[in-house]
Amino acid sequence: MRPTANQKFFIVGGAGFIGSHFTDHLLGAGGAAAVTLYDNFTSGREWHHAHHAGDARLRVVRGNVEDTEALVRAMEGHDVVIHLASNPDIARAAREPTIDFFQGTALTASVVEAMRRTSARRILYASGSGVYGDLGTVEAAEDLGPMLPVSTYGASKLAGENLIGSYAYMFGLSGCAFRFGNVVGPRQTHGVGFDFARRLLDARAKNESSDAPIVLKILGDGKQSKSYVHITDIVRAVHSAGHLIGNHTDTHPVLLFQTPQRVLAELTACSAALEDVLGQPVRYFRPPHGARRSDVLHSARALGMAPVMWNAMGYDWEPDTIPAKIEASLESGVRRNRRRGHGSNLLLHDGGQAGIGQDRSATVEAVARLVPKILGEGGRFVTVDEWNV
Ligand SMILES: NC(=O)c1ccc[n+]([C@@H]2O[C@H](COP(=O)([O-])OP(=O)(O)OC[C@H]3O[C@@H](n4cnc5c(N)ncnc54)[C@H](O)[C@@H]3O)[C@@H](O)[C@H]2O)c1
Repeated sequence: MRPTANQKFFIVGGAGFIGSHFTDHLLGAGGAAAVTLYDNFTSGREWHHAHHAGDARLRVVRGNVEDTEALVRAMEGHDVVIHLASNPDIARAAREPTIDFFQGTALTASVVEAMRRTSARRILYASGSGVYGDLGTVEAAEDLGPMLPVSTYGASKLAGENLIGSYAYMFGLSGCAFRFGNVVGPRQTHGVGFDFARRLLDARAKNESSDAPIVLKILGDGKQSKSYVHITDIVRAVHSAGHLIGNHTDTHPVLLFQTPQRVLAELTACSAALEDVLGQPVRYFRPPHGARRSDVLHSARALGMAPVMWNAMGYDWEPDTIPAKIEASLESGVRRNRRRGHGSNLLLHDGGQAGIGQDRSATVEAVARLVPKILGEGGRFVTVDEWNV
C-alpha cells in the first residue's frame, strides 16, 4: 500500500495553484483518506477544487494561518501537513518589506506550532530557490552553503526551513523542504516571467492609441539576470542524456485495479503527452504498481510499447527502509539473475511515494555501495535497448 493511501492530509494554502494539483493527486491516484484545505482565499480560488465537491473526503476550511488556535482546531486528526501558504507577490516586498516575515516566516511558525499541539507529525514545505541568494554563475547543489538570501522572500523561506528543522529536533516532527525554482510552462499562473509578460502586454494595451514610447517599470538597474527553464527543456535534456523517459507518472491511477478500457485510455493519454514533449514515439512501458497483468501488457503492446520488466527489487518505497536493507535485497536479486544467466533491471524509487521529491538518500546510499561491488566483479551497464532484447 502506498504511504499516501489512508493518510489524512492537511494542506495549508491548499486552494492555490500548487495546492490544487496536490488536491487532485491526493484525491485521485494518491488515495488519501481525507484532504483538508485550510485557506483564506487571498490568492486561492474556489474553482481550483470545485470539481471535487462531491468527494466526501474533501473538507475546505476558510481561515487565516495567523490564527494558530483556529489552525489547531482544523488540523487535529490529520497525519501529514503540506504547507504552501505565503505571500505570492514577491515584488510586493519592495514596497512593503515586512510582508514576507508576517505572510511567510510567521505563518510557518504558526503551522509548526499547531503541529506540535496536534496529531500531525510530518510536514512537506514549499520553500524556494530564493534561499540560495545571488549565486551568479554558480550552480546550486542541494547542500550548497552558506545560503545568503538577497530577498526578504528568500530569507523568509530559509527561516521557515530552519523553524521546521528546530521543531523536528525539539518536538519529534519530521519533514521535507522543497526549493521550487523558476520553472516556466503551461498552466503557470504567476511568477516573475509571467509577471513580466503581463506588464509588457498591459503597457502595450495602454499605449495602443498613442505614439509615445512604451515605458516599462523595472526593479534594479536592469542588468540583473535570472535563470529560467522550460519544463519541456528539462524533459528533453534528461532524455538526450541517454535516459529513457517512461510513462510512470506521479498521478496515474493504480493500474492493477483498473478495467482494461481504463488502462488503455490512461496509457494512450500518457503516451500522447510524452510524445508531445519528446517529439518522438514512446517505445517502452514499465508496468507500475505491480501491474504485470496480461491485459495491461497487451494494451501497452497494442500502443507500440515494449514492456520493460524489472527483476531485482530494492523495496525502497517502504517507510522503514534503510540503505543496508535496500542493498541486500538488490544484491540477492542480481546474484539470482546471474546464476540464471540473466542481466538485472533494478527497480528503484525516489524514496517513498507520498509525493514528488521524497527523501531518496537511502536509495542513493545503497546504490552507491552496490554499483562498485558489481562492477568489480565484471558487471557492466547496458542501455534498455540492449537489455530488452
Ligand atoms: N509557483 C511557483 O513557481 C513557486 C516557486 C517557488 C516557491 N513557491 C511556493 O509554493 C507555495 C505555493 O505557491 P502557489 O504558486 O501555489 O501560490 P498560491 O498563491 O497560488 O497559493 C498560496 C495559497 O496560500 C493561501 N494563503 C496565503 N496566505 C494565507 C494565510 N495567511 N492564511 C491562509 N491562507 C493563506 C492563498 O490564498 C493561496 O491559496 C508558496 O509558498 C510559494 O512561495 C512557488
